[in-house]
Amino acid sequence: MPGVTLEARELSKWFGSRTAVDSVSFTVHEGEVIGLLGPNGAGKTTTIRMLSTVLAPTGGDFAVAGVPSSRPADIRARIGVLPESAGYPPHQTGLEYLMYHGRLFGLSRDEARQTAVRLLAQVGLADRAQTRIATYSRGMRQRLGIARALVNNPSVMFLDEPTLGLDPAGQREILTLVRTIAEARGTTVVLSTHTLPEVEQVCSAVLIMNEGKVVVSGSVAEVTSTEAASRQSGRLRVPPDQVARASEVLQRLPGVSVEVSKDVVTVTSADGMNNLVSAVLDAGITLLSFEVDGARLSDAFLAMTRGGTS
Ligand SMILES: Nc1ncnc2c1ncn2[C@@H]1O[C@H](COP(=O)(O)OP(=O)(O)OP(=O)(O)O)[C@@H](O)[C@H]1O
Ligand SMILES: [Mg+2]
Repeated sequence: MPGVTLEARELSKWFGSRTAVDSVSFTVHEGEVIGLLGPNGAGKTTTIRMLSTVLAPTGGDFAVAGVPSSRPADIRARIGVLPESAGYPPHQTGLEYLMYHGRLFGLSRDEARQTAVRLLAQVGLADRAQTRIATYSRGMRQRLGIARALVNNPSVMFLDEPTLGLDPAGQREILTLVRTIAEARGTTVVLSTHTLPEVEQVCSAVLIMNEGKVVVSGSVAEVTSTEAASRQSGRLRVPPDQVARASEVLQRLPGVSVEVSKDVVTVTSADGMNNLVSAVLDAGITLLSFEVDGARLSDAFLAMTRGGTS
C-alpha cells in the first residue's frame, strides 16, 4: 500500500458566522487522483486553499507530503497549485513565465530554462513557448498553469476546477494530462470539480462535499457500487385498476421496496430492474411505462447533495 501523502483531520473554516468547511477528515495515498466533488459553495475551494496554506484553518489540522500544517513554508515547497481563477501576465511568453517561476524556486537560469522547455513540451505547448500568453486560448492557459504548478517537482498537486470553461476537446486534454502526471511522476493530485464524468474518468478516489461537509468518500468503484446497491430505483406506470396487484407482485420479490401513488409504482431494488419487469408482465399486468433512474455515481451525488431526498 503506498504511503499517505495527504491527511486532513477535522479541518474547518468559518468566515464570520458562515461555516465554509465543517470538520472535514480524509486521507489520500501517494499517486492517487482524488476528486473533490460538490455543487457551488460546497467548500471545495476553501478546502484546497487551506491545504495549500493560502488560508489558515479555523479548526483541525492536516499534513501534506508528511509535513504538518504547522510548517506551511515546507508544505509550499512540496506542492503545486492551479488556483480557481489564475491570472497570467499577458505580455510574457510561456517560456518566460515558467522560467520566472523556476527562478522563484531557486533554480539557476539554465536549470529554469531546461525545466520550462521540458514542461512546455509535457503540456503540449512547445510550439507556443515563444509567443505571448495574451494570445493563448483558455485551454492553453490552463495547461500553462499546470506546467507552472509542476515547476518545483511537487509531491502533491492541487487543481481547482481545471476544466472549467473548456470545450470537450480541451477538457479531455487536461484530464489526459492529469492522468499522465499522476502515473508518470507519481504525483498525488487533488482535483476539484462539480461534474461527475470528470471524476469517473480520472479519479481513483472521490470525496463528495456538500455545505462544507463530506457526505461520501471512498474509491470511485466503492462509491459507485455502494450507490448501485442502495439506489437502483425505477418507476412503473400501470392502469389505475392494476396498481394494487402490481404492488403486491413486486413486494413479493426479495430486496424490493415499493411505494404507490395513483397509477405510479416506484420501486427500489438491490439487484437490478429486469426481474421486476418480467414479474409484472408474467402476472398479466399492463405496463404503460417504465423508467429506471441512472444508477451511477450521478445518483449518489444528486441524492446526497440534495440532503438525501430523492
Ligand atoms: N473569503 C470568503 N469570505 C466569506 N465567505 C467565503 C469566502 N470564501 C468562501 N466563502 C463561502 O464559503 C462557502 C464555500 O465556498 P467555496 O468557494 O469553498 O465553495 P466551492 O465548493 O469552491 O464552490 P464553487 O463550485 O462555486 O467554486 C460559500 O458559502 C462561500 O460563500
Ligand atoms: Mg470553488
